[in-house]
Amino acid sequence: MGLLSLLLFLGTLVVATNGSPEVEVVHQIHPLRPQCGSAGTHVHGLSCLSWRFGVEAHNIIDWKTVPRSCKKYIGHYMLGKQYRKDSKAVVDQALSYAQSLKLAGDGKDVWVFDIDETTLSNLPYYAHHGFGVELYNATRFSKWVNEGKALALPESLRLYKKLLSLKFRIVFLTGRPESQGNVTAINLKKVGYHTFEKLLLKGSAYTGTAVTYKSSQRKKLENEGYRVLGNMGDQWSDILGTHIGNRTFKLPDPMYYIS
Ligand SMILES: *[C@@H]1O[C@H](CO)[C@@H](O)[C@H](O)[C@H]1NC(C)=O
Ligand SMILES: *[C@@H]1O[C@H](CO)[C@@H](O)[C@H](O)[C@H]1NC(C)=O
Ligand SMILES: *[C@@H]1O[C@H](CO)[C@@H](O)[C@H](O)[C@H]1NC(C)=O
Repeated sequence: MGLLSLLLFLGTLVVATNGSPEVEVVHQIHPLRPQCGSAGTHVHGLSCLSWRFGVEAHNIIDWKTVPRSCKKYIGHYMLGKQYRKDSKAVVDQALSYAQSLKLAGDGKDVWVFDIDETTLSNLPYYAHHGFGVELYNATRFSKWVNEGKALALPESLRLYKKLLSLKFRIVFLTGRPESQGNVTAINLKKVGYHTFEKLLLKGSAYTGTAVTYKSSQRKKLENEGYRVLGNMGDQWSDILGTHIGNRTFKLPDPMYYIS
């Protein structure tokens, strides 16, 4: 994966967070351009595109790493136009749903967002670590998080701003540990997520799965009188389980799986 394409992608993110989400980068790699030869690369009898579909549809589950032969394909997908387009398609649906609702206006109408690969992008990290081909290293990822340099996902930031103007309350619900609460809040604010009702992080004592953790947090929200009208994440564990909210939205993430 060329450094140039990463820089271009990051350039788009930075520009977009400065308030012009429509800005398009001209020289992006077309993800399905045959010359990269990787969309059709076969792995365990699957093409990389089929593998990605299987992952996004939750037919392929509990996987640990991206197939090595799909590294190039996933890199091109993430840094090219398709990732942005897929995210936009999700956000467009979420937005038209949100706009169709008549909110009670009592400050209890909530939209739940996950953080990593949902509102913040760790693409600079993953671009350096094989786009999910390398086994997840908690120590190393934690170091990256502590730098507070994650970027905003432009489409999610656009949705966030619209939701605020519609008078939704925003709740961030993340598997990041409580010890990274400050750096996470600072990072969120720095890239444009300045207002939120709650930032819910995982206590160090919690040992269950992401599904049960997030379900219990949403249940707690409901017990506090909040109505979870929308719930968005990049992982199925963000939107499976109980108290999932009136509607869920799944953003693309072919780089890792959290159960
Ligand atoms: C994880 O990353 C740390 C810090 O870079 C490194 O010291 C360690 O060896 C890595 N662990 C594994 C299992 O690769
Ligand atoms: C976060 O910042 C507050 C205020 O500066 C401090 O009291 C608290 O200990 C910090 N928490 C963590 C987990 O670093
Ligand atoms: C959300 O779901 C709850 C529980 O099913 C339902 O009572 C409520 O009317 C729904 N709200 C909207 C806005 O659809």
